[in-house]
Amino acid sequence: MQDRPKRVTTNGDSERPNVARLFDYYLGGAHNFAIDRKLGEESSDFPAAEMVRSIRSFLRRVVKICVERGIRQFLDLGSGIPTAGNVHEIAVPLDPTCRVVYVDFDPVAVAHSRTMLRDNKSATIVEADLRDARAVVNHPETRSLIDFNEPVAVFLIGVLPCLTGPSEPTEVIEAYRALLAPGSIIAVTHLTNDVEPELIDKLIKVADMTDTPLVPRSKKDVEEAVAGLELLDPGLVLAAHWRADGDLPSPSPAADATSYGAVGVVR
Ligand SMILES: C[S@@+](CC[C@H](N)C(=O)[O-])C[C@H]1O[C@@H](n2cnc3c(N)ncnc32)[C@H](O)[C@@H]1O
Repeated sequence: MQDRPKRVTTNGDSERPNVARLFDYYLGGAHNFAIDRKLGEESSDFPAAEMVRSIRSFLRRVVKICVERGIRQFLDLGSGIPTAGNVHEIAVPLDPTCRVVYVDFDPVAVAHSRTMLRDNKSATIVEADLRDARAVVNHPETRSLIDFNEPVAVFLIGVLPCLTGPSEPTEVIEAYRALLAPGSIIAVTHLTNDVEPELIDKLIKVADMTDTPLVPRSKKDVEEAVAGLELLDPGLVLAAHWRADGDLPSPSPAADATSYGAVGVVR
């Protein structure tokens, strides 16, 4: 019989829905509270779970490609709760020398992550604001698993819409790019209302009930943010379509049209 996931029972704010726990709920994880499940159920009139799963499929494909390119170090920024098919669960079975550092500034997500990763030698969680790239990269716990003289895969998956300042995505990507060795990868997704504006309006109303408002951005805005990277084919496209292979057609073409994805190489 499979072990049941360990639950965090005491840490964190269980009075208000939390975006990391909501993602966990949509992914079928066990690290969420009744308040998150209630909001999750109330948003059942639009394909929120499919949207989260579509981003998670993109992440899975990107991790595999990074391992194929010889990368063994991963820095997952705005990681939420590393549940249900997260980076270490994909990378380490492909190569047991892979190491993963998760970063989140939300104490709830960090507490859940610590509990889950307690006995894991390949992965850890750092509590930090990802916007302070130097603090993240120089954090002793980051350094314990990642050597920045070697290529690193940096993930900004599902988190850039949480950065509400107009130029923050560009600044954050540029700050990490400047600190990474050539051959490193920066992979991003970004929520957009270019294709499904009504659906995104509903999502934003749900996000407003949590402590994390979300900002969708246009393709042009995301193109600007990744302009300093050499994008792998097919460039910036809907994340669900990025080298989708067997992952399409999905149960929800609408959900698949809600986030862009791109994978760039640092030169
Ligand atoms: C929508 S969740 C995405 C989680 C995960 N990346 C995924 O795709 O499942 C966004 C996460 O980013 C975190 N976050 C938002 N802004 C952040 C910041 N400035 N620094 C660190 N974490 C941040 C939130 O706390 C939340 O856990």
